[in-house]
Amino acid sequence: MNIGIDKIGFYTPDQYVDMEKLAEKRGVEPAKYTIGIGQERMAVAPLHEDAVSMAANAALSILDDDDREKIDFVLFGSESGVDHSKSGAVWVHHLTDIQENARSIELKQACYGATAGLKMAMGHVALNPDSKALVLGSDIAKYGLNTPGEPTQGAGAVAMVISSNPRLMALDNDSAAMTKDISDFWRPLYSDYAFVDGKFSNESYLSFLKEVWEKYKEKTDRELNDFEAICFHLPYTKMAKKALLSLTENAPEEDAERLMGHYQNSITYNKQVGNVYTGSLYLSMLSLLEQSEELPEGSRIGLFSYGSGAVGEFFSGVIQPGYKAYLNKDTHESLLNSRQELSLDEYEELLEKSLPKDGSDIETNSEKMNKGKAYLTAIQDNIRKYEVK
Ligand code: HMG
Repeated sequence: MNIGIDKIGFYTPDQYVDMEKLAEKRGVEPAKYTIGIGQERMAVAPLHEDAVSMAANAALSILDDDDREKIDFVLFGSESGVDHSKSGAVWVHHLTDIQENARSIELKQACYGATAGLKMAMGHVALNPDSKALVLGSDIAKYGLNTPGEPTQGAGAVAMVISSNPRLMALDNDSAAMTKDISDFWRPLYSDYAFVDGKFSNESYLSFLKEVWEKYKEKTDRELNDFEAICFHLPYTKMAKKALLSLTENAPEEDAERLMGHYQNSITYNKQVGNVYTGSLYLSMLSLLEQSEELPEGSRIGLFSYGSGAVGEFFSGVIQPGYKAYLNKDTHESLLNSRQELSLDEYEELLEKSLPKDGSDIETNSEKMNKGKAYLTAIQDNIRKYEVK
């Protein structure tokens, strides 16, 4: 029985910062951000959009009545959680009207959380072939103004329905995973901003890739020519280029060219959004599926997931016949193209704002600029209130 991704949806707030303008303001060459880092626009979340509302919006864009009846497991991968106790999955379950006899949990391991969800969902569907699972990856990446990490911020969410006989991608049960206790990137509970040892994080990402790829090859006997394309966790698009170049260093030209060709399609969406942490790998996969004209049905796609701290995993999936009919390319392109540009003053003011941390009540300015349906309306008596428009 095939198990895998039956549907995939994406959401990002409808405001962005232009990377060339940000570079000019920071006094660096625009090419450093657009070529050196490889980002063109960066999504910025207003206060009424958080990891929960963005995940709900990504899910609302794909769920139908059959999904709502059959989903009995909601797995919310995030490192931007809003409560130490209650999982974001419980709110999303409610906001998307999924039937009540379901499990709903949140998973955390930096950017790896949604992959953990995907793997657990596969096991669940293998034991319960008539069930479906909803896997979410939703995050806001914030490093702070004038930091090296600033051009690698972003905000957004991905939602995936996992089922038997999936219409988009059947996932192979072939993972090679690795865990090592390192401090390359972390987010202490008191801080709005991530802490990062930038160069070390890049090196760790690449060394995890090398090790899990070697393990994966040993385990499966597959080589680069078994893959039509490879998608990577994308903290910024140049990182995946470095990753791909490291894999293809000694590869036949034909393999290197094919994989680099698909890489261009796999970064189209991420280049416009920035890092969405847990959702980044799956946003890249969505970009590849929707933007590639020549992705043969039945071909195998490699996937590399990396979450700082750190856990890495290499696995793969096979593109299903007729998959193009189940994608929403026009919706996603229009989501990205109809956003409003923030001035740098507006961006700087917004980035430094946060919801009250002293328990006081707040009503958000939720009517302003929100193309999504779900949003945070208020915090009252320390309880977060969400609504679907
Ligand atoms: P930096 O020190 O400002 O940048 O930080 P740099 O000096 O290394 O320059 C970046 C690139 O721009 C270089 O290219 C320069 O040569 C180039 P490279 O050598 O790397 O190929 N450059 C130019 N190119 C064209 N024209 C120019 C020009 N000038 C310079 N004029 C860094 C960069 C990524 C370290 C920083 O932005 C950062 O700390 N980001 C956050 C950490 C990060 O994203 N790490 C990625 C790996 S870890 C990961 O992916 C996990 C993560 O998603 C978190 C999680 O798991 O939850 C982050």
